[in-house]
Amino acid sequence: MRLTREEEAALRGNRGPAARKAMEIVVALGEVYGAEELVPVSSVQVAGVSYGNIGQAGLEFLSEWAQQGARVVVPTTLNPAGMDLEAWQELGIPEAYALSQLEVTEAYRDMGITISCSCTPYLVGNSPALHEHVAWSESSAVSYANSVLGARTNREGGPSALAAAITGRTAKYGLHLEQNRQARLVVEAACALRSLADFSALGYMVGQRTADRVPYFRLNAGVRPGPDELKALGAAMAASGAVALYHVQGVTPEARLRDVLATDAEVINIESLEEGYESLDGSQRDIDLVWIGCPHASLAEIEHVADELAGRRLKARLWITAARDVLNAAKSRRLTDRIEGCGGRIVADACLIGAPLRELNITSVATNSGKGTFYLRSHQGLQVRFGSLVQCVECAVAGRWLA
Ligand code: F3S
Repeated sequence: MRLTREEEAALRGNRGPAARKAMEIVVALGEVYGAEELVPVSSVQVAGVSYGNIGQAGLEFLSEWAQQGARVVVPTTLNPAGMDLEAWQELGIPEAYALSQLEVTEAYRDMGITISCSCTPYLVGNSPALHEHVAWSESSAVSYANSVLGARTNREGGPSALAAAITGRTAKYGLHLEQNRQARLVVEAACALRSLADFSALGYMVGQRTADRVPYFRLNAGVRPGPDELKALGAAMAASGAVALYHVQGVTPEARLRDVLATDAEVINIESLEEGYESLDGSQRDIDLVWIGCPHASLAEIEHVADELAGRRLKARLWITAARDVLNAAKSRRLTDRIEGCGGRIVADACLIGAPLRELNITSVATNSGKGTFYLRSHQGLQVRFGSLVQCVECAVAGRWLA
């Protein structure tokens, strides 16, 4: 692999042992994937934050790297933690978990990372431009960066993203190369797409069919997904098929700018979402928690919840996870008051997949997220109901899932 003088010097340790270790990781990955060179990145999104996911070994790894002097050299944002970093006591998070979680975020802070704690960094200031090279981890964020923003990133792991943030480089392979961004699967989606859950169910079904190919969607005339719909579609595909890039005809930037369709692309037809709903939805009636905000909710989604609640009192817990800056925007528009007035809660900083839910006596969850459903089952072993935001709100009001 060709390295610049500066990169070689970093590999020899001219920026200290922490930066040398980071450069070794970046170069090793490049060699594994056959990269010819490294590419500078303009931003990084680091995953591996929730203490429930990384555990004590992860915390020690991060603290040690920070103590060695690891410092980021490009703007770097952070994935969600396993709890609200400020309101964890009110939410009943056990103290031992909380203190370890705070140590994790402190290690990242020491490295110079913005403690944004969100999987939607693009909603809170980290929004790369078309064709910009970045190194992001977190599957739904990667999908959004590549597909909706037209930036270029592979699906980095936590340590490789962190290494990219410390070196300002990533190996140039995979989705950093134009030829790998071509679509080889056409999805003719003739099904009705009315809600975020519909886009999530579609994404879930398509993810299972991609077999490492970039999908290209043709939607019904008149269906024009906005940022929230694309966020839901990409997150579900990332969960069920590790899809890091997709195109939507006439909607996503690369599909509008050039011919992204390979001549030998296979075509599949999706006429109904029934299969997606059937695989995602469970049968549990009693629900301990209704979760909206996977990926983290936008202001528009929060407003939709407040409107649907319409001042009604809740019988089940309702948590909306969102970036703290989005929570603050919701506060200034009095959406928080409207939601909390009903008994709901906007939880900042957190993803429930790494949260200590069982310690909070939560064993059944309702959500409108295909990705959330997938991981609540596989990581947390919980019972999950999957449906539209409206169904989820009705469930929170009734205290049980309604048929
Ligand atoms: Fe975000 Fe966690 Fe869902 S990281 S996409 S809220 S699984």
